[in-house]
Amino acid sequence: MVTTIARSPAKPFLKWAGGKSRLLEALSQHFPPELSKGHLHTYVEPFIGSGAVFFHIAQSFPIQAFVISDINHELIVAYTTIQQTVEELITILTAWQQDYLTLDEAERREYFLQIRADFNRDRAQLSANFSTAWIQRTAQLIFLNRTCFNGLFRVNTSGDFNAPFGRYKQPRICHTEKLRAAAQVLEQTQIFRGDFTACEAAIDAQSFVYFDPPYRPISKTANFNAYSTHVFNDSEQLRLRDFFRRLDQRGAKLLLSNSDPQNEDIGDRFFDNAYQDYRIERIQASRCINSNIQKRGPISEILVANY
Ligand SMILES: C[S@@+](CC[C@H](N)C(=O)[O-])C[C@H]1O[C@@H](n2cnc3c(N)ncnc32)[C@H](O)[C@@H]1O
Repeated sequence: MVTTIARSPAKPFLKWAGGKSRLLEALSQHFPPELSKGHLHTYVEPFIGSGAVFFHIAQSFPIQAFVISDINHELIVAYTTIQQTVEELITILTAWQQDYLTLDEAERREYFLQIRADFNRDRAQLSANFSTAWIQRTAQLIFLNRTCFNGLFRVNTSGDFNAPFGRYKQPRICHTEKLRAAAQVLEQTQIFRGDFTACEAAIDAQSFVYFDPPYRPISKTANFNAYSTHVFNDSEQLRLRDFFRRLDQRGAKLLLSNSDPQNEDIGDRFFDNAYQDYRIERIQASRCINSNIQKRGPISEILVANY
């Protein structure tokens, strides 16, 4: 039986670089028509990030199974914790929120730096499989995401979370309903950590796969790679293209998005060449991750589909 998950307001519980919330409407115009007809049984998103597209699809279309993955261990820890033990997580975050909101700015900064230090110190001991330590870690991640400057997950080359303290009047550290709604959607979702190719076994002709890899830098200076110490260079983009081809031959419906290099250099045909056998469209997106406010205006995003 095909089921649609109950209408709950599940939305990303983290702010994440490259998050697709603002692009969702434009992107959904390009979903495969079979999605609303119930002909696609599995939704797969191998670069899940904050999951804006996943949460939207899970609540809008009749899909039976969901598979999400990412190379970033912290993200997978958080999704798994919310799936398995959301109430324990809510208890910790509620207590931290109560503490934090009573503090003045200097005390808040200290509180933030302590949780950031705990988060970085505990990384080495974090188990590969689910354990109760994952609940504490997810609480730290959400806390830092809600209280750091710009609200983004950002690590340095040694893997330490290094975003500075952010000044917010009333940060919402525990969004209880959002977390419970996310947990409900995640009930029927397989979550794992891995390279984007690791989801291959789950994909067949009844699958819809959405790829949102790290952006190819839109300028020589915008070398934004905040997610991990892992570098996603042009040869990685081409390795992904080869994977895309393989899944295309299997009959899966595939959609991929990336920054359009022609925003900066009209002659740059990197994706046009790499995906010349597929349908390519350009849509308008507004990009926020740029220290220069002048450059935050609408720019185009490139979409590739095999249908
Ligand atoms: C543009 S973000 C995805 C954003 C997501 N669509 C959202 O709405 O938040 C790209 C993601 O790819 C992940 N990533 C980077 N290299 C990867 C790889 N080789 N395999 C799988 N995931 C990878 C990063 O950790 C990051 O979460």
